[in-house]
Amino acid sequence: MRLPANVRLVDVGPRDGLQNEAEPFGIEDRVTLIDHLSAAGLPSIEVGSFVSPKWVPQMAGTDLVLANIIQRSGTAYPVLTPNLQGFEAALAAGAREVAIFAAASETFSQKNINCGIAESLERFRPLCAQAAGKNIRVRGYVSCVLGCPYEGAVDPVKVADVAEQLFKMGCYEISLGDTIGTGTPGRAQAVVAETAKRLPLAQLAAHFHDTYGQALANLLAVMEMGISTIDCSIAGLGGCPYAKGASGNVATEDVLYMLNGLGIETGVEMELLLVASRFVSQRLGRPPASKVARALSCG
Ligand code: HMG
Ligand code: MG
Repeated sequence: MRLPANVRLVDVGPRDGLQNEAEPFGIEDRVTLIDHLSAAGLPSIEVGSFVSPKWVPQMAGTDLVLANIIQRSGTAYPVLTPNLQGFEAALAAGAREVAIFAAASETFSQKNINCGIAESLERFRPLCAQAAGKNIRVRGYVSCVLGCPYEGAVDPVKVADVAEQLFKMGCYEISLGDTIGTGTPGRAQAVVAETAKRLPLAQLAAHFHDTYGQALANLLAVMEMGISTIDCSIAGLGGCPYAKGASGNVATEDVLYMLNGLGIETGVEMELLLVASRFVSQRLGRPPASKVARALSCG
């Protein structure tokens, strides 16, 4: 098995996870969680989003979160921005990296950002142009790469089309999201293979959800192809507000345990990661979805 020597972990829990919580998580707690993740050595932490608070009230106050976290040098703190309005707000709050998000499914795009795929890409174009002029890094997401909650199966060619357009617009990396977690290893490899025909494999990241318990298997399958950036979420927080039944992103603790076992470097400390996991689980009043966090915390 050929695997990368190093993997970059992107913890999306403070955004992709907390955006799904029924009860908003306070600003102070969001800051504490992010500081714990920084202390654990995560190289990139998605701290929130500048989207409409009518659509996702949980992410209101991301400007305050950015202002109050301890920003470590060498750590990236991206925020999600759906349009120029969000981008300008992110800039005003001091963000140095933003993420834009398109989908490989028309219906999901409509439900998530109230416009079709083509229109969403047109919205992102001026945002990317402004970001380039201001030296702001832009990450791109493609959602529903292995299935859509409304349309079912998604053609890998469609995924590659959207990924290529985001990449050509200036995204430094494209994260492929199995938003509803229906993927299995062969299909995960197929979508990566199709997308890698259009842009370098080194510029792709895997963003897998664990709804069907397939996330680690899918990650290992795409790591064998050379994927070395993995999105994950502390305590397995998450789901998707517009994808009924979707459970969380793969838990950071579970991914780290697998990578440690394979001797793959991440720079992340398990003991410190568990501090973040316990903190958020205690504040939410439920055990972590991570099997590793549960196993390592009961002794
Ligand atoms: P819209 O209603 O079409 O927007 O929503 P609009 O341009 O017509 O404006 C309507 C109102 O929204 C106006 O306010 C605007 O000012 C305001 P009003 O005049 O009515 O008071 N508005 C904003 N407010 C704050 N920040 C903004 C913003 N833009 C407009 N940036 C919009 C379109 C895109 C704004 C909306 O649909 C939205 O915010 N959607 C975000 C949904 C979201 O965050 N989804 C979750 C993230 S995606 C995801 O989780 C998948 C991913 O994790 C990958 C995976 O897991 O696979 C990335
Ligand atoms: Mg996700």
